[in-house]
Amino acid sequence: MPPSSRPVILTGDRTTGALHLGHYVGSLRNRVELQHTHQQYVLLADSQALTDNADDPGKVRRSVLEVATDYLAVGIDPSLSTICLQSALPALAELTLLYLNFVSVARLKRNPTIKDEIKVRGFGRDIPAGFLCYPAAQAADITAFKATVVPVGEDQAPIIEQTNELVRRLNRQIGRALLPEAKALIPTTGRLPGVDGKAKMSKSQGNAIPLSASNAEIAAAAQRMYTDPNHLRVSDPGQVEGNVVFTYLDAFDPDAEAVAELKADYRRGGLGDMALKRRLTGILQAIVAPIRDRRSELAADPDTIMDILRAGAEKGRQVTERTKAEIIDGLNLFQL
Ligand code: TRP
Repeated sequence: MPPSSRPVILTGDRTTGALHLGHYVGSLRNRVELQHTHQQYVLLADSQALTDNADDPGKVRRSVLEVATDYLAVGIDPSLSTICLQSALPALAELTLLYLNFVSVARLKRNPTIKDEIKVRGFGRDIPAGFLCYPAAQAADITAFKATVVPVGEDQAPIIEQTNELVRRLNRQIGRALLPEAKALIPTTGRLPGVDGKAKMSKSQGNAIPLSASNAEIAAAAQRMYTDPNHLRVSDPGQVEGNVVFTYLDAFDPDAEAVAELKADYRRGGLGDMALKRRLTGILQAIVAPIRDRRSELAADPDTIMDILRAGAEKGRQVTERTKAEIIDGLNLFQL
């Protein structure tokens, strides 16, 4: 299929810190594949990052280059994918403001993702208005690119649902299907737990393995990985469920048959945590090493990354300005 008629993907990350292995299994790995079959736009969502980090804009700014470097290091190829800095595309902000007229405050408050995130962030009654409204902003991101496929984590599904509600509302107002509905593409692999066994790997929880981790850091992370607290002696039967080392082997070990055998041995008793952790360490080191090397090459040449971001922003501006003009036309708003 010629590139210009391939389905459009929009995906992205809030720029709040360098990416880690959780991002790698959950999204980055897929993006490297999808860029061959789709027109893929990847958003460095710095404006959205500010919606819950207004007290630390420096972190959001610094993370832009960090995340861009991670993208390139894992193999997101700027000749196949377009990397766009959200704040460099004014049409996204303008469409957000417009879309906010087509959604109620009550609907925003009912969004399950927003409800959860408000709880996790402990906003209490002091919810930043920008945060409450980020589903409308994300709808602007998605529709401005006319994306039909949006790869996101399961927790983001309600945001895509709300995007499609907005799409239908806007199309009804415009009188034709100007904007396409989007489908969430949710990874089948499930989310990678933190090395401590908590449900989510997250830099802020201190349980993440960053893509820049050294071999020693990877070994140390594997050492402190949560296993089966009742598996005291090598000869004891061990539990595989909830055992983070096995969860990681499932996610990263290319030899699924060998992992199945290890699980059986572990359950039976006679397989120690140390041997498992050594195996996992080697596998993770082999995955991270080329990413880390490429990362440090890239980091030594920030001008090249800046050029890639400038070119991506230029392309992103063209696409999003065109859609904005069509929407303004479609709604028949006053124009000078
Ligand atoms: N909300 C997404 C996240 O938390 C990031 C994001 C911003 C995004 N805009 C997007 C994802 C548009 C997909 C499409 O990871």
